[in-house]
Amino acid sequence: MLRELDPHTDFIPRHIGPAAADQAKMLSVIGVADLHSLVQEVVPPSILKRGALKLPASRSEADALAELKEISGRNQVFRNYIGQGYYGTHVPNVILRNILENPAWYTAYTPYQPEISQGRLEALLNYQTMVVDLTGLDIANASLLDEGTAAAEAMGLARRGSRSKSKVFFASVHCHPQTLEVLRTRAVGLDIDVVVGDEAQGLPDCFGVLLQYPHSLGGIADYRVLTETAHAHGAVVTAATDLLALALLVPPGEWGADIAIGSAQRFGVPLGFGGPHAGFMACKDAFKRNMPGRLVGVSKDSQGGPALRLALQTREQHIRREKATSNICTAQVLLAVMAGMYAVWHGPVGLKRIAERVAYLTAFLGKSLGELGIGTSGSAYFDTLLLDTGAHTSAIVQAAQAACINLRQVSATSLAVSLDETVTVADVHALLQVFAAGVGKSWDAAGQHQLPADHGIPAALLRASPILSHPVFSRVRSETDMLRYLRGLADKDLALDRTMIPLGSCTMKLNATAEMIPITWPEFGAMHPFAPTSQSQGYKELIDRLSAALCEITGYDSISLQPNSGAQGEFAGLLAIRGYHQASGQHQRNVCLIPASAHGTNPASAQMAGMDVVVVASDENGNVDVADLKAKIAKVGDRLAALMITYPSTHGVFELAITEICALVHEAGGQVYLDGANMNAMVGLAQPGKFGSDVSHLNLHKTFCIPHGGGGPGVGPVAVRSHLAPYLPGIVNEAGQLPSGAAVGPVSAAPFGSASILPIPYLYITLMGSEGLLEATEVAILNANYIAARLQKHYPILYAGRNGRVAHECILDIRPIKDSCGISAEDIAKRLVDYGFHAPTMSFPVAGTLMVEPTESEGLAELDRFIDAMIAIRGEIDAVEKGLSDAQDNVLKNAPHTAQMLMVTEWHHDYTREQAAYPLSSLRDGKYWPPVARVDNAYGDRNLICSCPPIESYIEDAAATPV
Ligand SMILES: Cc1ncc(COP(=O)(O)O)c(C=O)c1O
Repeated sequence: MLRELDPHTDFIPRHIGPAAADQAKMLSVIGVADLHSLVQEVVPPSILKRGALKLPASRSEADALAELKEISGRNQVFRNYIGQGYYGTHVPNVILRNILENPAWYTAYTPYQPEISQGRLEALLNYQTMVVDLTGLDIANASLLDEGTAAAEAMGLARRGSRSKSKVFFASVHCHPQTLEVLRTRAVGLDIDVVVGDEAQGLPDCFGVLLQYPHSLGGIADYRVLTETAHAHGAVVTAATDLLALALLVPPGEWGADIAIGSAQRFGVPLGFGGPHAGFMACKDAFKRNMPGRLVGVSKDSQGGPALRLALQTREQHIRREKATSNICTAQVLLAVMAGMYAVWHGPVGLKRIAERVAYLTAFLGKSLGELGIGTSGSAYFDTLLLDTGAHTSAIVQAAQAACINLRQVSATSLAVSLDETVTVADVHALLQVFAAGVGKSWDAAGQHQLPADHGIPAALLRASPILSHPVFSRVRSETDMLRYLRGLADKDLALDRTMIPLGSCTMKLNATAEMIPITWPEFGAMHPFAPTSQSQGYKELIDRLSAALCEITGYDSISLQPNSGAQGEFAGLLAIRGYHQASGQHQRNVCLIPASAHGTNPASAQMAGMDVVVVASDENGNVDVADLKAKIAKVGDRLAALMITYPSTHGVFELAITEICALVHEAGGQVYLDGANMNAMVGLAQPGKFGSDVSHLNLHKTFCIPHGGGGPGVGPVAVRSHLAPYLPGIVNEAGQLPSGAAVGPVSAAPFGSASILPIPYLYITLMGSEGLLEATEVAILNANYIAARLQKHYPILYAGRNGRVAHECILDIRPIKDSCGISAEDIAKRLVDYGFHAPTMSFPVAGTLMVEPTESEGLAELDRFIDAMIAIRGEIDAVEKGLSDAQDNVLKNAPHTAQMLMVTEWHHDYTREQAAYPLSSLRDGKYWPPVARVDNAYGDRNLICSCPPIESYIEDAAATPV
């Protein structure tokens, strides 16, 4: 065949770790003839798919990229003045190349293991410090998904923190329209009435108030008095705000706001058709223990040195389940890192200069438009002008389109323009020429134009307090400084570019370079989410193709790519179920059955969707206890809305009873929600939409190669069977409003969520093709079974399915070891750092265990390196068990060992320094040295510090340094 001459299957062996010969060795270790036989042993016949996926064959990298380039070319990237929460920005090149395009940053995992995450934790602490500083509040998190969902989270936080008994949440009519839509969607399940109005007309009785500062259409109000009034009535006040504007404006914390939220997009993160961008939230100290999302805090390590780690909310959903403050798990870490570094790069002087340029150019534009006879409404503004364009409106829009310029169309007689840091004087002249043409006049760009004396920020609202005063924002002057700072931070961390990350349930697989290339193409990066749809045809093609492929893979009929995390997908899926029941007149169906082993986001999402959670027990094999399920179904009767089940289970097995379980739920009138986070075990082998489930979310940041970015971005599409399709998340129009007739509102601010990273899963599917995707799944199962087979002599494998096999991950039971000698799963996790590994998932879904998921991307050598480390550690445990090592003072309890710990004159341990640092001789080549010793989590939670250490500590340090 002629096709054979093309390198079309080259990518498959690049993505899949073990070569054919290695696969054969591994199969012989586990005692199976071939991959096909292994699959027959593992996957229940009742769900096994017959026939190949109907997807095109694999393509070469060059071929697939060329085709995607052609698709991206169908996007028409206009000059955008739309604003509405999304602004042009220059991504500093040093950040683009060294963070966004650098696998050391983008392939890292969420920093749950702080000892190997100090670099990204410091970057996130910078982000939090920046947000605290600019908003004038006490504490900030890192981070939320976007501005709309941040507003929705603030609504929840306000409710938890308010003294008022009211069910009403007041949102200003001046908020971005898409924010209001997301709020309305969220309010549905929380029994909150969102009242949208003009605060100038007075506030209703309410528990919370959301104000936009500056307004979506540009105005800036002084909210001091209003805030006092709201507080007097027990309401919590939230400001939706803009970090660049706050460089010049009195910050919300100074005028009394309790919470500030917004998007950090314009701090060096591309528009990307709406995402991914980091949302932010800051609040007063009084609210901190209720704040949603992840919070980085300062603590100390076992040697008494400062160390960073996630505070309070670490795995909050796992601990508090349906009582969790929110379902936020994957956030937007990489984008938060970029935004924080944007502040480090520009520093206080640079940032203020950017804000002032924008403000003065806007003032110049307003004055010049006045000369053309176009009035601006309101005299207070930062970067946005609302223009009274009257009868000239459509002519101006036409002239703008002809000049490849997008304006914000507000009504038939008014337009708005927003400026950003990328706008030059020449751009403003081009804009004025467009307006002049629209009103039948001309604009002389070469004329002697004067800059107005003032910009549009009223004197009473001009910020007097300094910005970015923390030394971290002044440490970088030159690009050399910045380059080394970023490199230094990255070097502190372990990411996939150095080692396998065997995290169960997280699917840390290869994020191939080719898959990452298009996300920085301007055709994708510079597209505004509210640009006319005629301009985003390339995105439409990409979204349509990816949607079709994901439907084929999952067996569902429809899909929404809008949710920007798995948990957001869960929420969307449950809203679909709720919408369906309500449309069928079954309003009472509000109970969600959730197995005890479920991921914590499941119950948290169910609660957000207004459902009551009833827990179903697991049997001794880790499967859903079918007898208990039947009892619970009988007990909740016609209140049954849904069962949420993860498949293969979080215990890492394909439960045989899955089809029976689905049938039981359907017979009782319920819907089946199958959590698709473990889809990496099923692609090409089984389709949940065909074997009994009604709806699933996928984690494209697991199975479909979007990198974890240190804890985000993510995409969590929600896929449904046809009867649920009408209840998928609504898509806001170009004005940011939900079209009438939509059954369900949007779950994210941007119409297609984190659209700019969709090229990654699209390319993965294209490069692998039907045959490659199937092989990836088979090898993921092979790798997990190989590890289980080799480690079972040393650590009991907690659960196994048919024929004693696991699915794509396995749980090592450490509890017997803990009982025998006190060595815990945590000790092993930390000791693995000394061996150069990131730990497996700790204590999920079963406390005291380690869950290992190797993925198909790890080759035999790396699997063996990990297995050797685990076996060597078992030997170290044996020594403790036999009393040969001290029960407290041993290599495990003291792990990880920093270089500093070993470089002491007197060594007081009964093991050697070599045993601590080089337990395997292979470690002598390329040893990873953790920057801190074991971190004390409890200390950090008791002494919560969540921004960079106070300036005084630097002064003290400087004083202590001999000159
Ligand atoms: C089984 C399961 N469900 C849901 C989620 C939530 O996904 P996300 O972190 O994208 O919100 C996860 C994430 O780890 C998971 O493992």
